[in-house]
Amino acid sequence: MYKKLIRPLLFSFDPEKVHHFATGSLKFLFSIPLLGKAVSSYASVKDKKLERKLFGLTFPNPVGIAAGFDKNAAFFNELGNLGFGFVEVGTVTPKGQPGNKKPRLFRLPKDKALINRMGFNNKGLQSAVENLRQRRGNIIVGGNLGKNTATPNSKAVDDYVTLFNGLFDYVDYFTVNVSCPNISDLRELQDQDALLEILNSLQTINLKKNKPKPILLKLSPDLNEKQLDEVIEVIAQTNIDGVVAVNTTVSRNLLGTEKAVVESIGKGGLSGRPVGNRSTEVIRYLSQKSNKAFPIIGVGGIFTPEDAMEKLNAGADLVQVYTGFIYEGPFIARKINKHLLNSVL
Ligand SMILES: Cc1cc2nc3c(=O)[nH]c(=O)nc-3n(C[C@H](O)[C@H](O)[C@H](O)COP(=O)(O)O)c2cc1C
Repeated sequence: MYKKLIRPLLFSFDPEKVHHFATGSLKFLFSIPLLGKAVSSYASVKDKKLERKLFGLTFPNPVGIAAGFDKNAAFFNELGNLGFGFVEVGTVTPKGQPGNKKPRLFRLPKDKALINRMGFNNKGLQSAVENLRQRRGNIIVGGNLGKNTATPNSKAVDDYVTLFNGLFDYVDYFTVNVSCPNISDLRELQDQDALLEILNSLQTINLKKNKPKPILLKLSPDLNEKQLDEVIEVIAQTNIDGVVAVNTTVSRNLLGTEKAVVESIGKGGLSGRPVGNRSTEVIRYLSQKSNKAFPIIGVGGIFTPEDAMEKLNAGADLVQVYTGFIYEGPFIARKINKHLLNSVL
């Protein structure tokens, strides 16, 4: 029903407006107790066999929502009710910021893809904290951290520290985002020295806490092997807990959408099907080259249970979806979890 009726209708409107409409509807639906309960019990696959214990946390199942979907931590409870085992909220920046000029989100239906140049639009740290205080249920929540656009790279570490301290009591794990292609020069922070400075600063604070929290690093799919090797070294040196692989790509290779259409969209990060293979390659490379030294959350182009299995078989411990959720509909977590239960886990 979603793909035949609802998706064609939703896809006839502006993508960003549809996002607000859909998330508003989700909140409304789960505010009606009986209906919300019925949807939740259909969507959620509960089974001990789906649980994953990773970095000291117990994930009720391995399928999560990737960062960017709930930038303000405004509906992570509802996403949990749709059967996701974890939600990564953000990217949160210290101060609220409007992001890039609209339009900034585009669909490429022929490629089952999206291009976005949102630019970390979000209401900022304080607003995220207020929302996170409303947490219910046993959903795991990650906080995805990014610097404000106006903060120069030389001061980026201060933004990450502010966010880490501000969110510490409200999230279960952290993801350091230095791989978004839509903030100018942000990806330069993936250079070894810059990474060491940010991650060491966070770890120093973390290790002084009674109960330190897992810190992950989110990677770009556009890193080459030498850069991935450097990431492996950085993880060993900083002792952070793992990686999220991958963010969106700046590549426009192998697209079926007409070149003129792609060019007219302009800059932005490409997600969905076209990033799937590269995501699996990065996961496999990191897993093999590091000899499984750290956990990996696999993300990029997951639409079907088979796509999720591909990431897990390549070395991922958990998976996340974003574009697949838009194309496949609200019960994607159920589909993947059902399949996982029936496969050899
Ligand atoms: C509209 C949109 C906004 C996104 N915003 C963020 C973000 O704020 N922070 C982040 O780390 N990743 C962000 N991402 C990247 C996703 O989390 C994910 O890494 C990427 O889209 C690949 O997964 P997918 O193919 O399942 O979409 C965004 C993706 C999309 C499509």
